[in-house]
Amino acid sequence: MGNPLADELSSSRRAKPCALVIFGATGDLTRRKLVPALMGLAQDGLLPTGFAVVGFARRAFEGPAFVDELRDGVKQHSRGRGEETLTAMQEAFSYVQAEYDDPAGYQKLKAHLEEIDKARGTQGNRVFYLATPPSAYSTILEHLRASGLSTEAGGRFARVIVEKPFGRDLPSARALNEQVAAGFKERQVFRIDHYLGKETVQNILVLRFANGIFEPLWNEKFIDHVQITVAEAIGVEGRGAYFEEAGIIRDMIQNHLLQVLTLVAMDPPAALGADAVRDEKVKVLRAIRSLTPDEVAETTVRGQYTAGFQAGQEVPGYHDELGVAKDSKVETFAAVKLQIENWRWGGTPFFLRSAKRMPRRVTEVAIHFKSPPHRLFAATGCGNLDQNILLVRIQPDEGVSIRFGSKVPGPDYRIRDVRMDFRYGMAFGGSTADAYERLLLDAIVGDSTLFARRDEVEEAWRIVDAIVSGWAAKGIEPERYEAGTWGPDLADQLLGDGREWRRP
Ligand code: NDP
Ligand code: BG6
Repeated sequence: MGNPLADELSSSRRAKPCALVIFGATGDLTRRKLVPALMGLAQDGLLPTGFAVVGFARRAFEGPAFVDELRDGVKQHSRGRGEETLTAMQEAFSYVQAEYDDPAGYQKLKAHLEEIDKARGTQGNRVFYLATPPSAYSTILEHLRASGLSTEAGGRFARVIVEKPFGRDLPSARALNEQVAAGFKERQVFRIDHYLGKETVQNILVLRFANGIFEPLWNEKFIDHVQITVAEAIGVEGRGAYFEEAGIIRDMIQNHLLQVLTLVAMDPPAALGADAVRDEKVKVLRAIRSLTPDEVAETTVRGQYTAGFQAGQEVPGYHDELGVAKDSKVETFAAVKLQIENWRWGGTPFFLRSAKRMPRRVTEVAIHFKSPPHRLFAATGCGNLDQNILLVRIQPDEGVSIRFGSKVPGPDYRIRDVRMDFRYGMAFGGSTADAYERLLLDAIVGDSTLFARRDEVEEAWRIVDAIVSGWAAKGIEPERYEAGTWGPDLADQLLGDGREWRRP
């Protein structure tokens, strides 16, 4: 509808008719992310012509009550005219009430979908979205297999989208992968990492491989180190019970940060196909050795926030959050030094840092270049110049900038750091689509490039499991840091060689 980018996309990657079945349709993710994302796609004319959304959960709804339940979320979280769009397409929404472990529920769903095929032209194609707590995944997967809903026949497709967390360690992730594989072939499976749906994350590939100027420098000869930071100002936001099981290492580093790292460090794929890209990504993870407990003690830092101030407001410490044990040893800050042991990166450390209750929300990748081999201007007393940095700002203030030294106008050589800046908002105007819009569309279209493959997820768990067991073996507990600060002082020592964490 009047969006040229959307017109271009819809003609190149046309979505086939299908029904989207959401398990956990009464939950927070459906309300805040999935349905608003569908509204965005509908507004841009990107949904297929034959389309339906079927909610599946245990709660009872009468008549249009399910759509009414979704309305508030759409009002609050949709871009553009979300509520009008929901009203216009409310006929596309229906609901099946059942227990997740009741085979009769899946027979009811099957019969309902057949009706929908006739009424809404969805042609027998299904996309199943697992948006329940992870404890329900295996029950649902088993019933999808046993009921035949996962079977593809007669040119019809059946796909499954699995939300994070995908397991809580390598054995549980493997078991879940086995369960998924019992009903679905890998090409039918879409493991979500919503960071891959962010425009700025996808731009890492474009920046690197569509331009001639960066790639020749993209290796250990020119890059001193890389810092990947995902800092959040929020605390655990009522998810204390979940966080107690996860900690920041499982919640963020195992998935979002390691995924970003693979895009920064991978070799160019031969083509843009899902397997070509993911083959290169997984090679990066394979080149990261599992750390020994001694290495974990030297190259990682854990932290946990105490009470403090955020934007002038007093905020509680982690111990006082709902659902958190008073003596909890779970980390809300983690910093990790990783070495990618391959030809391109031998000797260039990658530092990953993620935390809650930092001074501000910022996600960025900072590529720190080595200093020139000879300090020509040292004798002029211009001081120690900082390293050149290529900064990929993922959010907020999306963009890319380059920091370099420039001569200060005047009679002698004084040098100061300046910045060359590209901002998404200024260059392209408007707001970018939410990550879930892109990922839902890709799953409907059948493009799994931006989803984690089985081997990627398992390699990431291998790396994280070694860190978690190192912490246990060495009795490493989180250092305290005050909410609203950049984390424990110890994290500064991690970088070594005079390097410093950025304070964005
Ligand atoms: P919610 O707790 O809000 O509930 C999701 C749904 O699951 C509800 O519709 C509920 O439906 C059903 N449900 C609740 N408990 C159980 C249970 N024990 N067994 C079976 N079904 C149950 O979860 P979220 O929507 O927040 O999260 C859903 C999934 O998405 C999780 O895996 C989460 O990790 C992931 N996720 C969520 C994000 C978010 O922003 N919320 C972000 C990233 C990932 P009913 O009780 O009516 O059957
Ligand atoms: C989720 C984590 O995957 O990502 C949350 O479970 C975190 O703890 C969120 O807050 C961050 O996502 P974003 O898109 O806001 O950076």
